[in-house]
Amino acid sequence: SAGSSSTGGLPLEILQALSKADPILSSETFAQVPFESIKAALDRLSSRSMVTYQQVEREEAALEPEAETIVSHGSHEARVFDAVHKAMGGLSIQDLEKEIGDKNVAKLGQGKAFKAKWIKKDGDKIVSLVDSVDDVTRDQLRTIQEKRTHEPKVIADLKKRKLLKLQKTFSFKISKGPKFALEIVMEETDLTAEMLASGSWKTATFKPYNFNALGADQHAGALHPLNKVRQEFRQIFFEMGFTEMPTSQFVESGFWNFDALFVPQQHPARDLQDTFYVSDPKKAGRPGPVSPDDGRDYDEYLENVKTVHENGKYGSIGYRYPWSEDESLRLVLRTHTTAVSAAMLFKLASEYRGGSSPPARYFSIDRVFRNESVDATHLCEFHQVEGVIAEFGLTLGGLMDFMEIFFAKMGLKNLKFKPAYNPYTEPSMEIFSYHEGLGKIIEIGNSGMFRPEMLEAMGLPRNLRVYGFGLGLERPTMIKYGISNIRELLGHQVDLNFIEKNPAVRLDKD
Ligand code: PHE
Repeated sequence: SAGSSSTGGLPLEILQALSKADPILSSETFAQVPFESIKAALDRLSSRSMVTYQQVEREEAALEPEAETIVSHGSHEARVFDAVHKAMGGLSIQDLEKEIGDKNVAKLGQGKAFKAKWIKKDGDKIVSLVDSVDDVTRDQLRTIQEKRTHEPKVIADLKKRKLLKLQKTFSFKISKGPKFALEIVMEETDLTAEMLASGSWKTATFKPYNFNALGADQHAGALHPLNKVRQEFRQIFFEMGFTEMPTSQFVESGFWNFDALFVPQQHPARDLQDTFYVSDPKKAGRPGPVSPDDGRDYDEYLENVKTVHENGKYGSIGYRYPWSEDESLRLVLRTHTTAVSAAMLFKLASEYRGGSSPPARYFSIDRVFRNESVDATHLCEFHQVEGVIAEFGLTLGGLMDFMEIFFAKMGLKNLKFKPAYNPYTEPSMEIFSYHEGLGKIIEIGNSGMFRPEMLEAMGLPRNLRVYGFGLGLERPTMIKYGISNIRELLGHQVDLNFIEKNPAVRLDKD
């Protein structure tokens, strides 16, 4: 700000260093100063053209712990020599060890000192041969401690002796700039009323505008990647004439999650290992009218479900087991959004009753829960993308065609279909696509045509056909954002920075 002068500190030290040597290397001249501080000072100076600099990569030598001991206490051989020289008349090996206090140092040092002819054996004593020695190793290490480098031969030798390690570091090569001076002229950042009144503006130096400066971070709110991909899917569904199903209720009765979908009560999916059951309250009320003008006959529907499970109906022989209403009323965390699709189709059935036959297209994208062991690709909760199409005259070929069109909207072409099994659809198909990035065919969804045991029990007309399909939201999101561990996407390990920084997503459409 105007008036204050801040000409001291690191920038000035850099200028002073440059007046003695040009260029200088920051890693030598300012070895102790953090990289960021140097960079900030250099930017300040170079914006005034007082210096120019470039970043260079350099190999630096750092002392191993043993080398640090040598710098403070001397090399092993020098310590041996000192001990022997100090003792008049020489030392025995045992006394030498005692004197030095480190067996290893005494042993290694003797070897070197003998070789250098600093000491010799005299009877059972060791005596010195010279009056003084040059502790070359210590001197070399001292230089390295200070400058972090030495002649290549010295570096190579000390590295071989495991006294050094080499590491790559960044450094700045700094030279004088065209406006080099030993003083940093104060630059005004604002033209003030006082400057105009006093006329001081005429001689003031103004700081130039920095048109390259980036704006300050705004820390705006950010959508979670799953929500971004969800938004893209929603857009595709809306484009194709679908309406969104109400899926905000995570707890369902077993009735809507399983029984309405013709899933028998002994089905393994209903086991505790696969489904989370609610313990309080344990049970739902019997399905019944949801509003005063809900004219549907729930008693008839429940009776139909019971009959179709127990004895069969609508041309089906059923499962032939005693169906329990109590079991169907147990509360679960929904294991799929198909529970909501079932309730929506039952609602649709009452609309058909008047003889009108509106084709229906429903979708939902929401959370489901499965009692699974957690690993890099599985969590106990995830999101399902689900679609349902009800119309007269639909065929399996039509479902495959629809899937091709739907997935092409997110850039997935040449789908493969594999026969599969769902209790509520027949036929059922798993959908596969070749994934360029992974270089293999991966499963992308599950689909089928809902069974008459499910639809006719609801009161839907015989010849109405209903497609259903479901896929996960997490997998395409992980692929889009290059995430390999699902726990980085969902749950308590999510990095909020990642959420804030990741870009908008666009599914590659045709
Ligand atoms: N509910 C199935 C699943 O969880 C998906 C699906 C929905 C399959 C509708 C067929 C029909 O994988």
